[in-house]
Amino acid sequence: MDDGLACDTQTLADRGIDARRIAVASCLDPSERARLGQFMTPTPIADFMAALFTRWPAHVVLLDPGAGIGSLTEAFAERFRHQAPRGAVLEAHGYEIDPILLGYLRQHLGDIDARLESGGQRFEGVAHDRDFIAEASFLAGMSAARFTHAILNPPYKKIATASAHRRLARDAGLETVNLYSAFLGLAIALMADGGEVVAIIPRSFCNGTYFRPFRRFLLERAAIRHIHVFESRASAFRDDAVLQENIIVHLVRGAHPGPVTLSISEDAGLRDLVSREAAFTEIVHPDDPEQFIRIPIAPSEEPGSGPFRHTLAELGLTVSTGPVVDFRVRDHALPYPARDSVPLLYAHHFREGRLVWPVAHKKPNALVPSPGIRKALLPRGFYTLTRRFSAKEERRRLVAFVVDPADLPHPLYGFENHLNVFHADKAGLPEDLARGLAVYLNSSTADRAFRAFSGHTQVNAGDLRALRYPDYATLMTYGQWAKRSAGRLTQDMIDARVERPYDR
Ligand SMILES: C[S@@+](CC[C@H](N)C(=O)[O-])C[C@H]1O[C@@H](n2cnc3c(N)ncnc32)[C@H](O)[C@@H]1O
Repeated sequence: MDDGLACDTQTLADRGIDARRIAVASCLDPSERARLGQFMTPTPIADFMAALFTRWPAHVVLLDPGAGIGSLTEAFAERFRHQAPRGAVLEAHGYEIDPILLGYLRQHLGDIDARLESGGQRFEGVAHDRDFIAEASFLAGMSAARFTHAILNPPYKKIATASAHRRLARDAGLETVNLYSAFLGLAIALMADGGEVVAIIPRSFCNGTYFRPFRRFLLERAAIRHIHVFESRASAFRDDAVLQENIIVHLVRGAHPGPVTLSISEDAGLRDLVSREAAFTEIVHPDDPEQFIRIPIAPSEEPGSGPFRHTLAELGLTVSTGPVVDFRVRDHALPYPARDSVPLLYAHHFREGRLVWPVAHKKPNALVPSPGIRKALLPRGFYTLTRRFSAKEERRRLVAFVVDPADLPHPLYGFENHLNVFHADKAGLPEDLARGLAVYLNSSTADRAFRAFSGHTQVNAGDLRALRYPDYATLMTYGQWAKRSAGRLTQDMIDARVERPYDR
């Protein structure tokens, strides 16, 4: 933005929609932007979204909830202009609560009107100055299924349990925790049978317990036809510095589940797009009570078949979140080990795959194993650990290490809450199994399989339970191989070894 004048409606009216989007974004109050989740869709993404619609009846009723300045309606109208027959009517309803954006939206709808009319089509655009959640839950209550198409980039924000939004969504039969899922759920609720919805939303609803009721709501009412992922998590809204992993979904209300197109592109310009068709059962496993929505971009990443199909339970293993929550054991914690103390291990004790303990750090290194905290400690042995949090742009989600009892000759260990611990019924693992499991978890194969259902940087124990593993014997051979190659393992060596699971 060069000067204040550029925020003036008339100055912006002379610009293209993308320039307007960037200019308007910088005119908005930053705290208001965050509160209302005002991140506008860039033109290439809006065009891509509009191109996913397949039905162009003579009367289209479009919903654009949280319409902003109308970038998505604009892209949709362009598509309509080319695809719908002469004489066809586009009735577009945009909902927006920000008065500044509403002004631009109205202006924009006027521009679209002129363009469509000149091509012999009709346009009726309404900018509703309403809270979409309140309006939609009211309309859904009247069973008013009225839209044939919906295109949305909704606001993203957690909704508090006691909030009006939560209650309104619940009134429409939707139990959910974020504005984006409330918007998408309500849009689905307002669609006519066969109505198509295209949305750009965070990927977080695809897994995790909080979103389970939302996944059920969605899958009961709509079929997934297409899922697009962006390779880099920062790319979709680069101008706005949003670090959410976004996906685009195309859904059809009331349709039967069928093949799903999966696509991936490197950046927001949607260059280098690759896609494949997957069976619906690859996306939502029929026996998965959680109904995780998986996005296995390459078929080989699907871990439910082939050599990597075993559950942890089949391997006799359990994974738990590190049981020691440090502020709860504050009275038992020691900055450095002392006589009869036991190690308290954090993620920072593992550097480049090796245990470095104790270390100079603001966090404690040891615990006094008093009776009150005994049950949070595990007996000496080999354990495989993974970090629960990876940095935003870290290449790998899964980072595993092995605790070797030769390094820690103490009777008990404390594992802090930012780690996940693989154990055998609260005891250590055979050495080769612990090392083999770490080899598998550190492989690109496991990392990709993990990303197929998790979009978070967080690695929860539940996600590690959902992952599939090689069989016991294969893990043991990986472990023996790792011991032989100790100290000189590279990512390429690990990947090559894991890809040959039957080598002994
Ligand atoms: C992520 S932005 C997207 C804007 C536009 N759809 C686009 O793609 O560029 C979400 C929009 O929703 C609006 N919004 C937030 N809460 C809303 C609500 N409860 N009802 C209607 N609009 C809302 C915000 O002001 C913001 O303009």
